[in-house]
Amino acid sequence: MAKKIVTDLDVQGKKVLVRADFNVPMKDNNITNDNRIVQALPTIKHLINEGAKVIVFSHLGKVKEESDKAGKSLKPVATRLGELLGKEVAFVPETRGEKLENAIDQLQNGDVLVFENTRFEDIDGKKESKNDPELGKYWASLGDVFVNDAFGTAHRSHASNVGIASNIETAAGFLMEKEIKFIGEAVDNPKRPFVAILGGAKVSDKIGVIENLLDKADKVLIGGGMAYTFFKAQGKEIGKSLLEADKVDLAKDLLERANGKIVLPIDTKTADDFSNDANISIVSSDAIPAELEGLDIGPKTVELFEKELEGAHTVVWNGPMGVFELSNFAVGTIGVCEAIASLEEATTIIGGGDSAAAAMDLGYADRFSHISTGGGASLEYLEGKELPGLAAINDK
Ligand code: 3PG
Repeated sequence: MAKKIVTDLDVQGKKVLVRADFNVPMKDNNITNDNRIVQALPTIKHLINEGAKVIVFSHLGKVKEESDKAGKSLKPVATRLGELLGKEVAFVPETRGEKLENAIDQLQNGDVLVFENTRFEDIDGKKESKNDPELGKYWASLGDVFVNDAFGTAHRSHASNVGIASNIETAAGFLMEKEIKFIGEAVDNPKRPFVAILGGAKVSDKIGVIENLLDKADKVLIGGGMAYTFFKAQGKEIGKSLLEADKVDLAKDLLERANGKIVLPIDTKTADDFSNDANISIVSSDAIPAELEGLDIGPKTVELFEKELEGAHTVVWNGPMGVFELSNFAVGTIGVCEAIASLEEATTIIGGGDSAAAAMDLGYADRFSHISTGGGASLEYLEGKELPGLAAINDK
């Protein structure tokens, strides 16, 4: 059923709680990629323009004990949000209490306040992460309505998303709405042909996604480290390439069930060491020498994948094709990224994580229909699982 969205709410003069996913990468208290903050702007700007009092919060990293708090304050995020909005954003370094409540009471229409990392509440009994009912109720009491825009956290059932939603009227923000539209439609009602490209190191991380997309997609192209377990399942020699021995039977089973839908790499870039300085050779996928390891797909595979993508109307990509952190083994990932980006007729979606980072780093962000802000959340959505944060939003 369609979910209520932020435009369904009357927010003028109201205290609006906004759960964002500001779990951004940080180094020495500096944000190294602000994409998640940028993606939250449409909802926050809309609320400002509608005259709401906007109270934004998020988790940042994992916080189990007092010492984990170092470097996990949301203060730098509040500062960056203020810069992006071009207006003052108040920051309250608390997750509850009088100081926070007074600051909220003083908000004028159109003001924005950010409060401290919700996971600071995990130090004493994992209240946030275990969805402590009192905490959800308390946070809900700070506002009149709740807008959940944290798609990246939608696979978690925490006090700051599900807990609040079970206490007050809740709508999805624009980012959440966009993620549902693109990923949800690709999985539930794709325009065909629908081609999925899956990569990444391990089969075990992607079993649910492969199984679900084998049912839904017309073709599933597999690259990355996990391809070698599939080669092993076909009886091929894989040298020193990554192998999940306990997943070989599963890979066999998936290949049988796939009825030809799974397309594996036909050539492999091998190395004599896991290093950018290693000696490189490109070999056919059924001739990987015993002393070498495959670290990327080869050029013939990029061509093959390009052909498989021709004419596709929906493409979902999740996971790199090789060890793309080493430039010599990023070529396959770049090739696939280019191939998807140049499709003109297709809705093209990157399901978060490393492939999203790769596309953005390579400057292809504008050439995809949608790059998900979720990591684990997009994976679970692609697996066809119900996301608790999403389910808790009120239906229209
Ligand atoms: C993410 O980065 O995937 C989300 O922010 C969720 O973070 P978590 O895995 O720490 O719950």
